[in-house]
This record gives sequence, structure tokens and C-alpha cells, in this order.
Amino acid sequence: MTVRKDDRLWGGRFDNAPDALFDASQRSFAFDQRLLPYEIAVDRAWAKALQGVGIFTETEVRQSLAALDKIAERAKSEPGWINKFGAEAEDVHHFVEKALVEELGPLGWKLHTGRSRNELVATDFRLFVIDAAAEIQHCLQALIKAFLSQAKANMKTPMAGMTHMQHAQPILLSHFLMAHGQAFMRDLARLQNASISADACPMGSGALAGCSFAVDRDVIARDLGFSRITANSLDAVGDRDFALDYLFALAGIATHLSRLAEDFVLFASQEFSYVILPDEYSTGSSLMPQKKNPDSWELLRGKTGRITSSLFGLLTTLKGLPTSYQRDLQEDKESLFAAHDQIGVMLSVAAGALAKTKFREDRLRAAASNPALFATDAADYLVRRGVPFRQAHDLVGQVLREAETQGKPWTELSMEDVQKISPLFELDFLQSPSVETAIASKVVFGGTAEGSVRLAITQLELKLKQLEKLP
Ligand code: ARG
Repeated sequence: MTVRKDDRLWGGRFDNAPDALFDASQRSFAFDQRLLPYEIAVDRAWAKALQGVGIFTETEVRQSLAALDKIAERAKSEPGWINKFGAEAEDVHHFVEKALVEELGPLGWKLHTGRSRNELVATDFRLFVIDAAAEIQHCLQALIKAFLSQAKANMKTPMAGMTHMQHAQPILLSHFLMAHGQAFMRDLARLQNASISADACPMGSGALAGCSFAVDRDVIARDLGFSRITANSLDAVGDRDFALDYLFALAGIATHLSRLAEDFVLFASQEFSYVILPDEYSTGSSLMPQKKNPDSWELLRGKTGRITSSLFGLLTTLKGLPTSYQRDLQEDKESLFAAHDQIGVMLSVAAGALAKTKFREDRLRAAASNPALFATDAADYLVRRGVPFRQAHDLVGQVLREAETQGKPWTELSMEDVQKISPLFELDFLQSPSVETAIASKVVFGGTAEGSVRLAITQLELKLKQLEKLP
């Protein structure tokens, strides 16, 4: 085998070995080995591209592809091998080159012709993000399905809809659940955007200037499943916008999970008692025997910090970097991997906890049945009799004040009481309001009337089915 000074990818012009601590801190193999399947796919495409420009013979390509397959196979079947053989590898790119040389001798050094780790890592990372986004889309779909089943199972349950955490108007519990469902549908679209933004192949960009061999970039891209190629080599090696887009999508999911968690933590409190926490997703107290704590939801809320911080972390790393590849960019991977893994778990825990939650219809209905929540409908009653809304609002305000003075719900005032305030109030004014009528009147698209909620459920189910049909 041709003699090289040492095994490093770049040792030729150096007299001294790197400082041991610096060397350990600059290596990325411990975490970027996760990119190995993508690295190997890119290597395969590159070997073929090099044949296209006459650098590799047919035999050399065949040998290289066989060796790459063998490396992939060994990495899968012999997990300990990667770290044993790769103990000296600086990064995943170095690892594969070392393994190729072990298999093929000097031919293993030939594959790096015309290319740079700068474009390799960008390409691998893009492929990772595309797969990662698809995986999280599946987890999200499972969570959205859990919302749909709970919404359908609780179709008749009213609850007190709130703004500012104050009881506002009655709504259906299903409407509340579908509100969360809609938010997570938007996250699906964000993941799709991240995937589109990652879907451009940098190979052929070289270290920064492009490739001096006229490789067919379109063929490489197609080989790897990309639908486009990047347009500027300098931009391509330094661009991590696709990673930002992915982290933004994950941060959106985490924020929505955190809001959901906050709702359920409150609903599980003794003051609300709207839900019965499932044992499977709760824990107890080591001191207080009566406690059942909503830890699954609290931890979902708490873990949001890590996800948003990985978005802020990458934004901060990228801020102030000059154009083109800088080694700082190596800091892009660890926390994105961690955020991705964490969100997958968070979504599955949320779906499980939601599916097993029991809603206390008695408590929910009781809160929704307070006549104070029909005050807006009472104003609408006057509007239907021709009173301008602001005036109607005032008159109903007076009715509520009278009820407060008498210490009873306004629906229990006498006809005399209300007619003193306005002769437009007739008997049905005191008799007709109910949770059911208040909810049933919100028939607009997107409203809380049962028909509207059912329509929203059907539409969302249809969208999910369409998404599932996509490859
Ligand atoms: N490990 C590096 C990264 O993750 C890729 C190697 C590029 N190194 C270099 N010295 N240009 O970004």
C-alpha cells in the first residue's frame, strides 16, 4: 500500500500532532456516525459520478460499491465494530474512507476525488432531515388521530369555553379537542416545509468553489432521491437553513404540546376536576399517599425548553458566520439529533396520555351550565328584536347586575324584574337559554355547533387520509 505520513485526512502539511484535548474536542464521530447510512448512499452516488467523468473504471466502481455495501452491512450486523474500528476516526467521512482502504487498499483513497467533507456533511445532513421530518410527521398523525377519537367519543359533552382563564361561552368538549388538532395539523405543514427546504443536493459544490470534474449533478441528486440541486457552491456548503426550518417545526410542535399540557395540568387539578388522569401516565408522591400527579403533561411542558433552545442554539451559531463553510457548522448536529429524538418520544407520550384520559362530563357540564355564560346569547336575543348590539349589551349587563343584587342566576329573575329593564324582554327570554341552545346557535363554519364540529372532524380525517396516501 502507498505510504502516507499518518492516517489523518489532512496530515501532510503538519509537523506536529494536535494537542490531545483539542483533538478530542474537534472530533465529531461520536455523534455524526448517525449519518453513516446517508454517507454511504452519497458515496455510492459519487462513485458512479466519478465513472461518468472517467476517474473510475467500471471495475473500480464495482469494487467500491461492493465495499460500501459490506461496510453498511457490517455496521448494521456488528454494532460494536463502528466504535472499535472507528476509534481513530475524526468523523463519519474519515470512518468510511478508513473502512474503504481496509477493504480495497489505495483504491479506497480514490473516492474522495473532486469532493470535500464540506459538501458531504451538508448532503448527509439534508438527507437526515428529510427522513427525520417524515418520521415526526407519522408521530404527529398518531397524535392527531388520538384527538379525533376523543372528539368523537365526547361529542355531546359541553364545557365552559374560556378566554383570559375566565368562563366565557359554552362550547363542545370536542370543539376544544379539535382546536388542538388544528394546531398540530399546522405543524405537519411546517415539517413539510422543512423537508422541501432540505430537498436540494449540494454534491458537486466541492469545498466551496464547485467540482473541477464535470460530474452530472442532476444524476447524483436523483440517485439520492433529491428533486433539486443547490444553485451556488459557496452558499451550499454554509447553508443550514433547512436545519433551522426543521428545528422551527419542532419548536412549533413543542410549543403546542406545552399548551396542551398546561390545559391538562389545570384540568386535572382539584379546582377543575375536568379529567381523570390515567394511572399509566401519572406518578404519585413519596410522602403524600393521596397524590396522583400529572407528570406526563408537566414533563411535556418542561421538555419544550430543550427543543426551543436547540433552535435558538443553531440561530446563535449561525449568526455572524462568514459566507461558505466554517467549522462552527459542526455544532449543528448534536442538538438537532437530540431535539428530533426527544420530540418523537414526546409525541408518543402525549398521544398515549390523551387516548387514556377520561373526561368528567358531570363537572364539564356543570361549569358550562352557569347562566352567566349565556349572557352573550341574551344580548343576541335583543339584537334579533332590532336593538343595536351595544345597547343590548348594556341592557343585559343591567339584568346581570339585578340578578347579582338578588343573589340568584339571571334566568331565575321574574318577568317584572326584566321588563323594568326593557319591555322587549318577553317570557321566552328567561326560559329559552340553555347550554344546548347556546352551543347549537354557533352553526358557522368553524363554530362549536355539533354539525360544525362534525364537519371539522370529517374534513380533518380526509386530510389525514390524503397525507397517508402520499409516498
Ligand atoms: N465534521 C465536519 C462537520 O460536521 C465536517 C468536516 C469538515 N471539516 C473541515 N475541516 N472542513 O461539519
